[in-house]
Amino acid sequence: MRAEHYVGLMSGTSLDGIDAVTVSFEGDRLRVTGHAEHPFTPELRRELLDLNQSGGQDELERAAAAGVALARCYADASLAAVAAAGLQPADITAIGCHGQTVRHRPERGYTLQLGNGAWLAELTGILVVTDFRSRDLAAGGQGAPLVPAFHEAVFATPDAPRALLNLGGISNLTLLRPGQPARGYDCGPGNVLMDGWAERHLGQPFDRDGAWARTGRVDQALLETLLAHPHFHRPPPKSTGRDEFHLQWLERHEPVRQLPPQDVQATLLALTARAAADCIAAEADGASLEIFCCGGGARNGALMSALQDLLPDLPVASTDVLGLPVQWVEAAAFAWLARELLQGRHASRPHVTGARHSVPLGAIYPA
Ligand SMILES: Nc1ncnc2c1ncn2[C@@H]1O[C@H](COP(=O)(O)OP(=O)(O)O)[C@@H](O)[C@H]1O
Ligand SMILES: [Mg+2]
Repeated sequence: MRAEHYVGLMSGTSLDGIDAVTVSFEGDRLRVTGHAEHPFTPELRRELLDLNQSGGQDELERAAAAGVALARCYADASLAAVAAAGLQPADITAIGCHGQTVRHRPERGYTLQLGNGAWLAELTGILVVTDFRSRDLAAGGQGAPLVPAFHEAVFATPDAPRALLNLGGISNLTLLRPGQPARGYDCGPGNVLMDGWAERHLGQPFDRDGAWARTGRVDQALLETLLAHPHFHRPPPKSTGRDEFHLQWLERHEPVRQLPPQDVQATLLALTARAAADCIAAEADGASLEIFCCGGGARNGALMSALQDLLPDLPVASTDVLGLPVQWVEAAAFAWLARELLQGRHASRPHVTGARHSVPLGAIYPA
């Protein structure tokens, strides 16, 4: 059987840059054959962070310009991933590009991912599928998370229930039970608050391996107050983003200003762990469940230990052991989602997002 090649691009809420993968499909079996990472320049990152907050000056103008700047980065990352696979652009059926989320307001019917499909198609000569979320919102859904369908396609087994926990800027959980459709929702903050706090106090984009958090003490009172956020108490379907979890929200809590900053970092790590572990424990309900983490947070040893401590009876591992390294999972998902659209399938999962019915996901920019 001849392999089909796709590129998947993910740049998530962490704003750490772009993960690009070339994925080869033989039938429904997929393999990552090339990858490239493309960090954002500090200027573009700052601009994207600013655009995440409403009320800035000249937002329309700046969002359009950032979309073009992003498309140039997406094109570079795509071409690098294609070259790394030993392929040519002409070999690629499509690029699946998530875009950069700057707003996520399902209650108002919209979500906004910046990028520019026309530019990306023009710069690469490859068909582009992008804007994967809007159609689900139009059908009454949250438009997120979209990855449970992909997790089901690649990680489900007929015998053992599994949970996939993506620790990106926001964390999201997928539940795969034999014989049942995949479920999933956003647990809460992943790295987004820890990153913001580390940037402010260490001048570093993130707290590598949670080393700084390990020097602090978890403040239980602050942790419990943070856990009072309504997101943690909403029933699924639910999704969230930087709109809800940001440093201004954190600083509204009095103890944050009095505690040593490393204690706040330790507490934020505990918040990420608790948000996910509480969801997993409720879902497992005493039964067995294998947990596989992905996303950059799975590289944070302190966070992985905190999760395992909170879930002593459930084995916590990373997707590395399933043959898909943690940093490629989400990017590979968008290659898969692009293929689902082009092959005429509905990749949306109404019971995950709450939509009225299933829909095709994505908008096509021909080569
Ligand atoms: N070695 C590491 N130690 C701690 N955190 C890490 C490490 N590597 C990556 N991360 C975290 O992962 C984030 C990127 O994860 P990613 O899955 O790309 O998220 P997103 O999809 O939101 O972009 C970084 O911002 C950082 O917080
Ligand atoms: Mg990222």
